[in-house]
Amino acid sequence: MVEEVRCRWGRLWWAGVLPAVAIALLVKGCTPPGNNGGSDANTPGDSGLTGKYAGAARCLPCHTNIHDSWMKTLHAGALETLESIGQGTNTNCIGCHVVGFGEPGGFVDRATTNSLAGVGCENCHGPALDHVTNVSDKNLRPSKPIAAEVCGKCHTGSHHPNYEQWAESKHKGVEAHVAEGFAAGEEGRLASCGACHSGDYHVEAIINGITVEDDFLAGVEPNDMNGVTCAVCHNPHQRTGNAVAPDTGRDFQLRYPQVASPVQSNDVDEATDPNRFNLCGQCHHSRGRTWDSDSRGPHNSVQSNFYVGEMPMPAGQENDPIVANQRSVHAFVIEQCSTCHMYRKDFEDEQAPAISGHSMEVDFDGCSAVACHPSPADAQSATANLQKQVEDGLADIVARLGNPSTWEYSSEGGPNDAGQAALSDEIKKIRFMYHYLLSDGSLGVHNPLYALRILNQADSLLTSIGR
Ligand code: HEC
Ligand code: HEC
Ligand code: HEC
Ligand code: HEC
Ligand code: HEC
Ligand code: HEC
Ligand code: HEC
Ligand code: HEC
Repeated sequence: MVEEVRCRWGRLWWAGVLPAVAIALLVKGCTPPGNNGGSDANTPGDSGLTGKYAGAARCLPCHTNIHDSWMKTLHAGALETLESIGQGTNTNCIGCHVVGFGEPGGFVDRATTNSLAGVGCENCHGPALDHVTNVSDKNLRPSKPIAAEVCGKCHTGSHHPNYEQWAESKHKGVEAHVAEGFAAGEEGRLASCGACHSGDYHVEAIINGITVEDDFLAGVEPNDMNGVTCAVCHNPHQRTGNAVAPDTGRDFQLRYPQVASPVQSNDVDEATDPNRFNLCGQCHHSRGRTWDSDSRGPHNSVQSNFYVGEMPMPAGQENDPIVANQRSVHAFVIEQCSTCHMYRKDFEDEQAPAISGHSMEVDFDGCSAVACHPSPADAQSATANLQKQVEDGLADIVARLGNPSTWEYSSEGGPNDAGQAALSDEIKKIRFMYHYLLSDGSLGVHNPLYALRILNQADSLLTSIGR
């Protein structure tokens, strides 16, 4: 009885009151309560926890919030999922549905290792008994495992090829030129490029709000840096309600919502404010360049602004944009970017494996799935027609402007500083519109009417200067 009270108080009531070390001493030797609903605190379900794994219940007293929110995720109940279809002891299945199966001290069965049932803390963080018994030893603390390979151990194969498909996308790596700057610890490099180009920086600085110095990734091999990994988009610990239909019981644990239709704004601060945009718009948004800059055009990340139908303007000109704002017809598709870039399909058979959508490649099946286009082929030919029209329009602008060395940005082989200063405002506006359309990367698809407006406006300006 005394033993039971000691354990229970140690776990629950004194958490937060006592220092972590005192709690560790207090609960030392206690049998943790079962977690995944299948048992309660009185069930001695963990007699088999004799190895390096501690079990999720042991984390509860100190990491209470994370434990409680994890309990509500599908991960925590992954063994129940198998049990509910009579596969709870199928050794072909449980490896990815429990902790440490087949390893010394790993999951054996409900009766002896209940705290290792389901996808638990130690699937991602690694065995943590040493940490639990020596919390003050910094060297024994589990790492923050944001590498995609951590999730890819299980989210792999023909039933759920999230990892393989993600690995095909550019989200996998860090762009070489940017990575070199991070590795060299260049001053200001992480602060200006890291939020979008470095998963390590994004999670630490943007999500966890920790101050990061310039040398955070100094000396790290570019290949070992994390790009836009799973944990950048997904919260590993909790349901967030940010998926499209969390009411079905599934919750994709997205860090940011997918659906957001901000009011258009040509204000630079707003055009660059990730909080206005959805998940993808955290990074796929303008970096603030406007038509009056000489050295460089817009970054290739303007997709969200283009989709919303806005264009950042120099201070004072926000209400007089070069092109009238125009919301996209595609702004009404419910999952926005994901509808076209993350089409998903369940596993049928080995000839028709699941599609997880994580390659980010446009799949035209997504266009008819939302009942806007009668068929994928229809959407594909509409796309091809539009893209042809936009390509022709862009080629026309270049032809009328003439030799790039007379009008381009200096970074694109244009004139030197004196030459830039001599360019007319019309030329600068035309080249900005040209690059804005080009750097969106969809050749008009993200916002067809806006793209055509840009081409029309460029045409009028060219005509007005006799080109
Ligand atoms: C007795 C208290 C205690 C228990 C039990 C405990 N931890 Fe910790 N844990 C700590 C403390 C204290 C830290 C250091 C926190 C800090 O620096 O903010 C820590 C740090 C961590 C970190 C690193 C966090 C970071 O910011 O780098 C992870 C991951 C972690 N614990 C996971 C676990 C897991 C998994 C379990 C269960 C198997 C567990 N802990 C059990 C007290 C505990
Ligand atoms: C040990 C294997 C394993 C690891 C490691 C793992 N998962 Fe899972 N994950 C699963 C299983 C199994 C399920 C399904 C649980 C169920 O439905 O019962 C799941 C479900 C999910 C879901 C909910 C899916 C849905 O359809 O709603 C998300 C999101 C998810 N995992 C993301 C991640 C991320 C991100 C990581 C890495 C940080 C990760 N997982 C690591 C096995 C794993
Ligand atoms: C390679 C690791 C792995 C193995 C092996 C595995 N699963 Fe899973 N399972 C997962 C992951 C990851 C998910 C989450 C999928 C998602 O939500 O995208 C999952 C989800 C599930 C789900 C719930 C979602 C759904 O698709 O209906 C069921 C049921 C399931 N698995 C059954 C099984 C069965 C039965 C076996 C053995 C024949 C098995 N699993 C073997 C990794 C695995
Ligand atoms: C699906 C994989 C996964 C599971 C399961 C998981 N974690 Fe984590 N955890 C991560 C990742 C990835 C990070 C780093 C990203 C972040 O900080 O959000 C992290 C960060 C942490 C941190 C430090 C940052 C913070 O948010 O305080 C602690 C502490 C932690 N986890 C404890 C736990 C505990 C305790 C459990 C089980 C109750 C658990 N984790 C389950 C993947 C996981
Ligand atoms: C607001 C987020 C964001 C910031 C900040 C950012 N980038 Fe990017 N960058 C992107 C996105 C998104 C792409 C990919 C666009 C695509 O693939 O169409 C990209 C692409 C690139 C590319 C690939 C080549 C190209 O032009 O497409 C390079 C090189 C690059 N960025 C360099 C940088 C450097 C250097 C910095 C810091 C000075 C930086 N970026 C800051 C979002 C950003
Ligand atoms: C760029 C952001 C992003 C990255 C990176 C990412 N995901 Fe996702 N993931 C999403 C979005 C968005 C959805 C929901 C798609 C939808 O609405 O159809 C999703 C859905 C899922 C689901 C549930 C649907 C399914 O496939 O069963 C799982 C599981 C998942 N992701 C796992 C992963 C894993 C594992 C990784 C890393 C290998 C990863 N994700 C990387 C954005 C991302
Ligand atoms: C944390 C920042 C970030 C988030 C969030 C993000 N991306 Fe990206 N995305 C990038 C960067 C950076 C690149 C370019 C990487 C490079 O060129 O090295 C990129 C590249 C791409 C590409 C070009 C892919 C290719 O392989 O050619 C597409 C398409 C894309 N992202 C779509 C999306 C979608 C859709 C979402 C939301 C589900 C999303 N991104 C979320 C940063 C991000
Ligand atoms: C209506 C469907 C649709 C929607 C919605 C959509 N896209 Fe696209 N996107 C496309 C098409 C089509 C392309 C051109 C792909 C090609 O030609 O290969 C494209 C191209 C891109 C590219 C350039 C890819 C490359 O290889 O350089 C990026 C980055 C991108 N989209 C990101 C986004 C983001 C971020 C969103 C949400 C703000 C979004 N897309 C919404 C259809 C869509």
